[in-house]
Amino acid sequence: MSRYSRITGTGSYLPPRQVTNADLVTQLAAKGIETSDDWIVERSGISARHFAADGVFSSDLALEACKSALQAAHRQPQDIDLLIVATSTPDMVFPSTACILQAKLGASGGAAFDVQAVCSGFVYALTVADALIKSGTARCALVVGAEIFSRILDFNDRSTCVLFGDGAGAVVLEASEVPGILSSDLHADGKYADILCVPGHVSGGAVSGSPLLQMAGQSVFKLAVGVLEDAARAVLEKAGKTDADINWLIPHQANIRIMQSTAKKLKLPMNKVIVTVGQHGNTSAASIPLALDYGVRSGQVLPGQTLLLEGVGGGFTWGAVLLNF
Ligand code: ACO
Repeated sequence: MSRYSRITGTGSYLPPRQVTNADLVTQLAAKGIETSDDWIVERSGISARHFAADGVFSSDLALEACKSALQAAHRQPQDIDLLIVATSTPDMVFPSTACILQAKLGASGGAAFDVQAVCSGFVYALTVADALIKSGTARCALVVGAEIFSRILDFNDRSTCVLFGDGAGAVVLEASEVPGILSSDLHADGKYADILCVPGHVSGGAVSGSPLLQMAGQSVFKLAVGVLEDAARAVLEKAGKTDADINWLIPHQANIRIMQSTAKKLKLPMNKVIVTVGQHGNTSAASIPLALDYGVRSGQVLPGQTLLLEGVGGGFTWGAVLLNF
């Protein structure tokens, strides 16, 4: 009998502090940096984002998202034999955020590790978990995206600091006789590493290089639109499906204009796209599971529907997962 993996529960968490565009306009104006709600909304679709409080780490946001996903799946932490956290803002250099989260969950013994693929991290992590379940190595996984990007933003750079936010999303992925994940497609092209990066590292007790995010926005935008269409076509072809089979496109929430052009290329109306960027900002690896959970809890994403998840981000990395929910 074939063995597949299937999502049995979703969860998400946003830190309580909401930062609106008006808040950022005021904060930046105090430093003599000009921006406006109109500019941010028009160029990105973002109106607000959430920032974590001092002393809160990615594993703390992940913990809340996981509790909610476990409850939705009717699972206990002890049932988890695989825990993967996609993050670019880990709690510390090591151990992994997944190991720290495992202890906070009280779920010891299973495999736990982080995946670093920036905004494509959740799609990468879901694909790895699917493969480990299909191979029989794992049976019940938690796959998490968790980020605190507010800590790596340069608040003197108006072209990036208005775009990102903090949050976490999680799914429980379990072995199943019925197909859930239908196909995946993952890619990277490291020669574009410098168009989106945080080029610092810890060395000799100090940070060497810059610990803040740098982005060549227009280069990222152009690359993103092209590769997202390719990844979508690849997963559809692998699964023997067409654009018409997609009930929901749940893309990485970086910029409404990237989502609109991807939907157009796939001939999907925007009412088939889950959009949370307006209230969440770009939460990197957390954005897809946050959007998925929002879709589920708002009653839009229903069991049995076909979902196309797509991520793109620093690396340069990109990928897609097609699944039956
Ligand atoms: N407020 C007001 N003006 C601004 C701001 C701001 N916050 N930021 C930039 N500007 C100005 C610029 O200085 C520039 O002024 P100039 O013409 O006088 O030089 C003007 O606005 C236009 O700037 P552009 O960079 O050309 O604006 P663009 O339309 O390209 O939008 C944006 C910028 C939103 C960053 C866009 O390029 C984008 O979304 N890129 C993709 C980002 C993305 O998808 N990232 C995903 C991956 S994230 C990850 O992996 C971590």
